[in-house]
Amino acid sequence: MRVLVTGGAGFIGSALVRHLVLEKGYEVLNIDKLTYAGTLTSLQTVADNPLYSFRRADICDALAMEAAFESFRPDRVMHLAAESHVDRSITGSRQFIETNVIGTYTMLEAARRYWQGLADREKDAFRFLHVSTDEVYGSLGAEGLFAETTAYDPSSPYSASKAGSDFLAKAWARTYGFPVIVSNCSNNYGPYHFPEKLIPLTILNALEGKPLPVYGKGDNIRDWLFVEDHARALDLIAERGRIGETYNVGGRNERRNIDVVRTICALLDTMAPRREPHEALITFVTDRPGHDARYAIDATKLETELGWRAIETFDTGIEKTVRWYLDNAWWWEPLRRDYDGRRLGLPAGGGGR
Ligand code: NAD
Ligand code: DAU
Repeated sequence: MRVLVTGGAGFIGSALVRHLVLEKGYEVLNIDKLTYAGTLTSLQTVADNPLYSFRRADICDALAMEAAFESFRPDRVMHLAAESHVDRSITGSRQFIETNVIGTYTMLEAARRYWQGLADREKDAFRFLHVSTDEVYGSLGAEGLFAETTAYDPSSPYSASKAGSDFLAKAWARTYGFPVIVSNCSNNYGPYHFPEKLIPLTILNALEGKPLPVYGKGDNIRDWLFVEDHARALDLIAERGRIGETYNVGGRNERRNIDVVRTICALLDTMAPRREPHEALITFVTDRPGHDARYAIDATKLETELGWRAIETFDTGIEKTVRWYLDNAWWWEPLRRDYDGRRLGLPAGGGGR
């Protein structure tokens, strides 16, 4: 099995590449531009594996994508490359539109041209998994869950760009009969998570005795999934999911942000004690503009149709994650030098760059 993965140097992409190469024994070509979020050190365990290869390229570069398809000749594409941080999309949206919308369009077209030229058997077996987010559904109130049938209602430039890319993927299935599947997942956490997102930022700020910024009142809710559970789900969906369908992925782990931060503080009080409890570092700051109140996934379709279950609960996964950051300063220290955790996402002017 030959799998072309885009964004394989990112947080989820690297977990997926490690899973496909080390657990499944698949041949993987990782295409990644290596933006600030792409880190080849996340792939050390596969770097010398003969099943793994890497090509530095921009998914918006149609010629480079065409060449990659022709030389690697994949059986499957798993498309994860994206600009992924909501706060960055608020201060500069252009790159989100370019990578998430134009980049996905470019991938779909390169893949479709390649697929059209395949012999019947390979053509029937080919799949393009477009990896997306639950943020396309917008915000929930106190009740209810996002189902695959929930109407799209994105709030941020990031989620709007992902919604646009989902619509392109679905249109390529309907119009061209191109074998696309879409997955929409809730918040991931775990090892190798770039320290701009809530969980790794909180862990590292706490370790360094810096303020722990909680937006608004901290009562926004996210539904957390351990990244390795997501990687397994993606592999299963690409393998057995139905063409043209959407699959929601989530771990049934709803938590208020303030409770996530307090849990990390409590773990660090035991694993890396300091004079004052870590909770004393919690600082409530100006809310994120357009902040979605609550995300929660109904993963029944994935569970019943494909038999997937998350292995980690939030309690087991967060403990593993905090331990991983304590043990792997070699990975995050260079990233922390480039981005020190300063506040992002308060709009200073227009969208633009
Ligand atoms: P990430 O920001 O950690 O990684 C993105 C990767 O894409 C990086 O390696 C980056 O270098 C690469 N990339 C960016 N622009 C590129 C371009 N133009 N060409 C080639 N490569 C490029 O993101 P992530 O958190 O791993 O998310 C991966 C995917 O999963 C995204 O599509 C995201 O929307 C989706 N997703 C993320 C989450 C989450 O909680 N992190 C949840 C659901 C869905
Ligand atoms: O739901 C899936 C999405 O989850 C993915 O599509 C995105 O790529 C991913 O980044 C994530 O988006 P969020 O905006 O939910 O994640 P983030 O870690 O940025 O924020 C989580 C919550 O914590 C959110 O309610 C905002 C809040 N927050 C975030 C940061 C960075 C804080 O309170 N303080 C912070 O410093």
